Amino acid sequence: LNIAEDISLYRDDINNGLSDIYPDGPLSLTKPIRYVLQGGGKRLRPLLAIFSAEACGGCKDDVFSAALAVELLHNFTLVHDDIMDQDYFRHGQETVHHKWDDGIAILSGDAMLSLSLNLLNQSPLAQQSQMKIFIEGLLAVCEGQALDKEFETKNLVSLDEYIQMIDLKTGHMVGLSAELGAISAGVDPTVREAVRDYGRLVGRAFQIQDDYLEIFSDSSNMGKSLESDIILGKKTFLMILALEKNSSMMNEELKKAQIDFSKSIIKIREYLDNEGIKESAIMEIDTLLKLADKKLSSLPIDKSKFLYFSELIKRRGH
Ligand code: IPE
Ligand code: IPE
Ligand code: MG
Ligand code: MG
Repeated sequence: LNIAEDISLYRDDINNGLSDIYPDGPLSLTKPIRYVLQGGGKRLRPLLAIFSAEACGGCKDDVFSAALAVELLHNFTLVHDDIMDQDYFRHGQETVHHKWDDGIAILSGDAMLSLSLNLLNQSPLAQQSQMKIFIEGLLAVCEGQALDKEFETKNLVSLDEYIQMIDLKTGHMVGLSAELGAISAGVDPTVREAVRDYGRLVGRAFQIQDDYLEIFSDSSNMGKSLESDIILGKKTFLMILALEKNSSMMNEELKKAQIDFSKSIIKIREYLDNEGIKESAIMEIDTLLKLADKKLSSLPIDKSKFLYFSELIKRRGH
């Protein structure tokens, strides 16, 4: 079997594992949760957890419930993120708060967190240390999301502050996925930390790519609504560079976008392209993914699945 075939089998296993995770309960919880988990997520975090376990000499079964736990945690953060970002479309379908209401979305998210912790608790190996980093990862996401919100109304956000924010909201969770795999395989702390750092850098690249795609891709391709970064004044990688270059022009365009988004997005794209900011983002993503791979270079493990994963991220179109 090659790695691409593995991925498609693992995705099926993950989807099966999530499909009936919460069958009995009030319909206002079971329905939205089933709906979220049947949506078209890429399942990147559980895939990374499984790859990491295998690369470190372990196996899928030992990390599987932890991998599902991380995907549930991720989806819980997305349900709440869509309330915060007022987005109405995700995974090719209406978001929970839009299809139902905010209350249902908050509650479904909370219940998914509980289901996630419960799954992690069933993880066969090294439960204690997995639980510790999982809980830390959860707080990291909250902190990152808090900074993301704070930055909306802050005019001057530096690239350093931005990196700190995305490492918390996205990097920690990807690092956690990789680290859970390493723990399940019982590797020593040096390997475990390097694998975690690999994941964090991949997560950093991933979020910059997400910022990039939110501007340069389209909603049907991404399967999610793509206006909120502009409409809410998010400080994304590209926006920070643009504001540094010519903040009066960009602020003017961001104001106009509130009235005619489709006209403004074309102008914003042109500007980012002409100023070389689009290219800077592409180069930064590439640099970070290379840096991530380098974290693994001296480790006594089979790196092929990690390298494949980095390539997968690099080439992703959605
Ligand atoms: C979306 O993550 C949230 C970010 C961290 C940018 P994914 O793109 O991995 O989410 P899925 O695949 O839709 O679940
Ligand atoms: C999502 O960040 C990160 C978390 C849910 C923690 P974004 O808000 O940038 O991602 P999308 O664009 O909604 O997927
Ligand atoms: Mg957000
Ligand atoms: Mg969002």
